[in-house]
Amino acid sequence: MVIDKFNFKLKDGRIATVCSPEEKDAQNMIDYLYKSAGETEFIIRYPEECSKYTLEKEIEFINRVNNSDNEAVVVCIADEKVVGVCGISWSNNLKTKHRARIGIAILKEFWNQGIGTVLMKEAIKIAEKNKDIIQIELDFVEGNERAKALYEKMGFKIVGIKPNAIRLKNGTLLNEYSMIKEIR
Ligand SMILES: CC(C)(COP(=O)(O)OP(=O)(O)OC[C@H]1O[C@@H](n2cnc3c(N)ncnc32)[C@H](O)[C@@H]1OP(=O)(O)O)[C@@H](O)C(=O)NCCC(=O)NCCS
Repeated sequence: MVIDKFNFKLKDGRIATVCSPEEKDAQNMIDYLYKSAGETEFIIRYPEECSKYTLEKEIEFINRVNNSDNEAVVVCIADEKVVGVCGISWSNNLKTKHRARIGIAILKEFWNQGIGTVLMKEAIKIAEKNKDIIQIELDFVEGNERAKALYEKMGFKIVGIKPNAIRLKNGTLLNEYSMIKEIR
């Protein structure tokens, strides 16, 4: 699925663009994946787990999501880099096609600029256009207060907890909270 491109102003006054990724963004997307994975423990992957993201596979990924009817990726571009990505997807299975799932991460130097809010609003709009979807689901890791604040602002509510869902390299075990936003 592809969204219409638009610009918006970050809280610090810089202009950013929100759009679907294009093939020309593939290397930028890979750079973003490596960088974001090394900036916070709240992302599911470590940087060394990003080696699977080759240029060829990333181009395939971009074309697949842009042509998909149950998946979309919304990116934020600022300073000519991909600085944030929000993905939304749902299954085509009869028993689960009423549930969409969102994932989001912004590069650290761009946190608290309003990008998360804008990208999530776009992803939610995509789900709202699909009459089968009644709820959007996501998880966040214990301690991720910024993510929790963003999700609550977007109307998500905590519905459960997965104890010890995440184990860091140093052995620390963290709980994961599940949230749901009902859209119809
Ligand atoms: C979580 C994340 C997506 C939020 O994106 P963002 O662009 O920083 O979000 P926004 O600037 O749109 O909004 C953040 C909100 O959290 C608030 N906030 C920031 N730090 C906070 C804190 N420690 N406690 C509570 N609220 C906080 C901000 O005030 C802002 O609310 P406001 O718009 O009402 O002022 C981003 O910080 C990120 O990518 N973090 C690392 C990866 C990650 O955690 N991904 C989510 C995995 S579940």
